[in-house]
Amino acid sequence: MPFAVDAATHAYYDLRAGEYDDWFDGSGMFADRVRPGWTEELDRLVRALGALPPARTVDLACGTGYFTRYLRGLLIGVDQSAEMVRLTQERLPEGLAVVGDALAAPFADGVFDRVFTGHFYGHLDDEERAAFLREARRLGSELVVVDSALRDGVEPAGWQTRTLSDGSEHRVYKRYLDGDVLAEEIGGEVLLDGDWFVVARARWDV
Ligand SMILES: C[S@@+](CC[C@H](N)C(=O)[O-])C[C@H]1O[C@@H](n2cnc3c(N)ncnc32)[C@H](O)[C@@H]1O
Repeated sequence: MPFAVDAATHAYYDLRAGEYDDWFDGSGMFADRVRPGWTEELDRLVRALGALPPARTVDLACGTGYFTRYLRGLLIGVDQSAEMVRLTQERLPEGLAVVGDALAAPFADGVFDRVFTGHFYGHLDDEERAAFLREARRLGSELVVVDSALRDGVEPAGWQTRTLSDGSEHRVYKRYLDGDVLAEEIGGEVLLDGDWFVVARARWDV
């Protein structure tokens, strides 16, 4: 289990919470990254998320709530990091953010219309992915997954060393995904297959 139950990974994200959005914004440690088309594609992604029909939604591994806030309906964010949860709660004036395990979320079966996750699925190995998909099916009737697109210059799967602004180094497992691969894995369809982001949706109620 390389990610979802790994204590060092959990500590890394808790430490990173305050600077996490630098990755989206191209600031801080990401100020020197050359990412052609990143901002435009991120805008497109955010608009696509905002265009999804309102739904009772749980965002599993919500991080800072960067994407959660653009979804519509009753919004619940879950993350293992208390600091991430605090930041998400600030972005969800009418929703809730709770500390919890995305692979064993503290909710009854079938209470959500939509399970959403961003940049979490692609960190999971086979066993964790299977556990995540079981949990998504247990919780809701639709799953929307946002993740990092496979592109030139990145390893499709492997361990990465990440450096935070305090100089600390951390190792995380990460995959980059083609839209059709992601859609096939979750048993759904591609919603966005970009240079930077992929989005796929599976529905179990149709
Ligand atoms: C790469 S961040 C993604 C954050 C956000 N969803 C996004 O799209 O930017 C991965 C997140 O997974 C969380 N996480 C890791 N293992 C978890 C688990 N078992 N349950 C809940 N959250 C977890 C981390 O705390 C971190 O916030």
